[in-house]
Amino acid sequence: MTEPVAKVQKLAYVRVGAPDFGDAERFLERFGLQVQYRSAERIYYRGTDPAPPCYVLGEGRGGVEAIAFEAASYEDLETLSRLEGASPVEASGDPAGGYLVRLVDPAGMTVEVVWGQNSGEALNPALPHAFNMDGLRAREGELPRIEQGASRVKRLGHLVLESADPAGLFDWYHKYFGLMISDAVRLPDQSPQMIFARLDRSETYVDHHVIGFQWALDERTRVQHVAFEVSNLDDLMSGHDHLKGGAYKHVWGIGRHLLGGQIFDYWKSPFGLIHEHWTDTDLLNNKHQAQDCQLADMKDYWGPEPTPAFLIARWNFKVVKNLFRLLKARSMAKKA
Ligand SMILES: [Fe+2]
Repeated sequence: MTEPVAKVQKLAYVRVGAPDFGDAERFLERFGLQVQYRSAERIYYRGTDPAPPCYVLGEGRGGVEAIAFEAASYEDLETLSRLEGASPVEASGDPAGGYLVRLVDPAGMTVEVVWGQNSGEALNPALPHAFNMDGLRAREGELPRIEQGASRVKRLGHLVLESADPAGLFDWYHKYFGLMISDAVRLPDQSPQMIFARLDRSETYVDHHVIGFQWALDERTRVQHVAFEVSNLDDLMSGHDHLKGGAYKHVWGIGRHLLGGQIFDYWKSPFGLIHEHWTDTDLLNNKHQAQDCQLADMKDYWGPEPTPAFLIARWNFKVVKNLFRLLKARSMAKKA
């Protein structure tokens, strides 16, 4: 693979538009994000990790309007700004400050690359406790410390970007930002159903994926879900109960993914975008050998099948046609 223009350091934030601010705010509070700044037009949310806001809520039709990576240096912004179609380096205009360059990917998604934002101080994470499991007796004479209520979200971890051409889109993110393939899931004709891509931080271990490039059943481009790390299983389960109390739509989970390894829990927001809590991801570095997997072999370690509300953002003729192709691929391989 070619040497990328820049190697981004992390997924910085998503800019999300929602038609009803009040509805969106109530959901995000119950989901466990915390308000860091507020203006007349936007609310900036954070997790408990010491970092600039990871979620910018504005008014919109419902969904992610831009995704943002953090650059390793100001010089990387200057290099990216010289690419065709890129904006000049400009002050971000957000309360956390910093500078950014804007690009548009081949599927039409706005991508910001940002550098120099002010980090907030760390906030209290969910309380940890030892486990009397795996033959260990690490918690003798102590009760577990578990708070009920919203999860204490730590950070934005990954998102899944759907399009008609996941392979072409991955190539673009590799070329400009250095994303690497961790695993690919293929249809019987070997076209990708999903490419899980991680950051290239050399020997430093990073999450199994920062972006999942998924083949969209309706062949449209969208961020299908945004995913946030929580501290541990107890915090994930407490958050699950709390979201249930808000009568939000639970769309998949709780389970443990085969690719990525996370314990996951997916919820649909009132503005349509799916939000995930996860804990305990697989970590990979540059020693990892990418694997090609067949869709039919994909069975999570444990947990239920995804619901139709997770798989299908909206119904149309292409969805019916492609869903048939997908189901055929699964059943063919089961017979083989
Ligand atoms: Fe996910």
